[in-house]
Amino acid sequence: MTLLSVCTVDTLADAAKALKAGALVAFPTETVYGLGADAQNAEAVARIYSVKGRPADHPLIIHIDSIDRMGDWSSDIPEYAIKLAREYWPGPMTLVLKRSDVAKDFITGGQETVGLRVPAHPLALGLLGAFVKEGGLGIAAPSANRFGAVSPTTADAVQEELESYMADTDLILDGGPSLVGVESTIIDCTSDAPRILRLGAITKEMIEETTGLAVVEAVSGSTSETPEIRVSGSLESHYSPKAKVILDVVAEAGDGLIAPDQIPTPHGVIRLMAPSTIEQYARELYRALRLADQKGLEVVVVLQPGGDGLAAAIRDRLQRAAHE
Ligand code: TXA
Ligand code: MG
Repeated sequence: MTLLSVCTVDTLADAAKALKAGALVAFPTETVYGLGADAQNAEAVARIYSVKGRPADHPLIIHIDSIDRMGDWSSDIPEYAIKLAREYWPGPMTLVLKRSDVAKDFITGGQETVGLRVPAHPLALGLLGAFVKEGGLGIAAPSANRFGAVSPTTADAVQEELESYMADTDLILDGGPSLVGVESTIIDCTSDAPRILRLGAITKEMIEETTGLAVVEAVSGSTSETPEIRVSGSLESHYSPKAKVILDVVAEAGDGLIAPDQIPTPHGVIRLMAPSTIEQYARELYRALRLADQKGLEVVVVLQPGGDGLAAAIRDRLQRAAHE
């Protein structure tokens, strides 16, 4: 595995060639880092599953370079999905659509749908553009963490977590810390109205405003009303550090603490993060959870943010992180 900390047009072209040749390339997105493979290469995609330790029936998101490539991977795209794509791509939103013949079972987990996203990070877009020049159609990429663990928001976190599972020819591209910090909003666009499968920075209110439709939230865990849709991020336990996460209690000496900046740090408690805005809370949360493990803490107390939108997405992740 090679970590590329300076990414130029040339290194992106090399990374795209490596992808085309079947290597894995971890790359930054605005949400979290992804572990990428050529979405048309069954063997490369199989390696994503083994490096992550993820069950093979969990579908992957395909990252595309522009809205124009939606039609390659999906069919019967509803009007409201086009509106959402026009409004929020490139950006932290994944659309689940009816798949085309190009989206094989090894990407969709055998489902008839496919998840698509145009990421907003310049390096991700640069890599996708170079990959298209190599004849590629899309990069399959889950978050670049081991299954069930906290998603990485820096290249160092990817390296620390996956280095021992990656091959010599695999790459990690360093694009600095991810600016959003929680994974994309996933929207099921296979019925008459959008349904949110995973909360994120694109909120219910934003989706309703853009589409003019009433939006259903179906994010209540693996026992959701549609068990045929498998979203591993909707498992009750996910996004977990090794430390035990306890929500909304008073931290005791020796505990880690994640809380808004107005909350003081009790004596003997290890402050991991003190965000002053909800955006900062999202951006730094996963780094703070990783820091707890680096410090060998047994318990992290987290005071959850209140409010809708991004705050709801943060609470969703925290509840899964805290689930035993
Ligand atoms: O922000 C993100 O979405 C990041 C970055 C790297 O793009 N990716 C990410 O991928 O979070 P992953 O694989 O860790 O989580 C994607 C979730 C999984 O829970 C998967 O089950 C779900 O998306 N998913 C993918 N395709 C789907 C589909 N066709 N139907 C339902 N869920 C799908
Ligand atoms: Mg993930």
